[in-house]
Amino acid sequence: MALQDCRIITLPKIQDRRGNLTFVEADRHVPFDIRRVYYLYDVPGGAERGGHAHRTLQQFIVAMSGSFDVVLDDGIATRRFHLNRSYFGLYVSSMNWRSLDNFSSGAVCMVLASAHYDEADYIRDHAQFIKQALAG
Ligand code: TYD
Repeated sequence: MALQDCRIITLPKIQDRRGNLTFVEADRHVPFDIRRVYYLYDVPGGAERGGHAHRTLQQFIVAMSGSFDVVLDDGIATRRFHLNRSYFGLYVSSMNWRSLDNFSSGAVCMVLASAHYDEADYIRDHAQFIKQALAG
């Protein structure tokens, strides 16, 4: 199922007295071509983001600053990932319901995505998601 494809990927970290450097290359560190980058910031304490699934979109989520949790649900199982380092990212395959919560103050969530924004790719109704996920 979709959740088994999701995993934390450790990115290269070039340590330097002047500060550390991390990079992400399409099709190398993330298993897709990067077509879009977006980020969440100024998230108020207690807020929850996400709350939807994508039919085809693949994403890679990085806590650029601070920390937050990503809860993934593929209709069969649920798993919570805690992201708190900018050299770790979470690969999220298609057809996973995701919720982001537990944002620390000042957290910045960067998302690399495999396609441009397309509302038609979203499933925003959880019951509909479960039905489609279980139908395979
Ligand atoms: P949404 O994906 O629902 O946010 P969340 O991060 O909580 O899952 O997007 C929120 C709004 O922003 C929605 O109206 C669509 C818009 N949006 C874009 O226009 N382009 C984008 O790349 C993204 C991610 C969202």
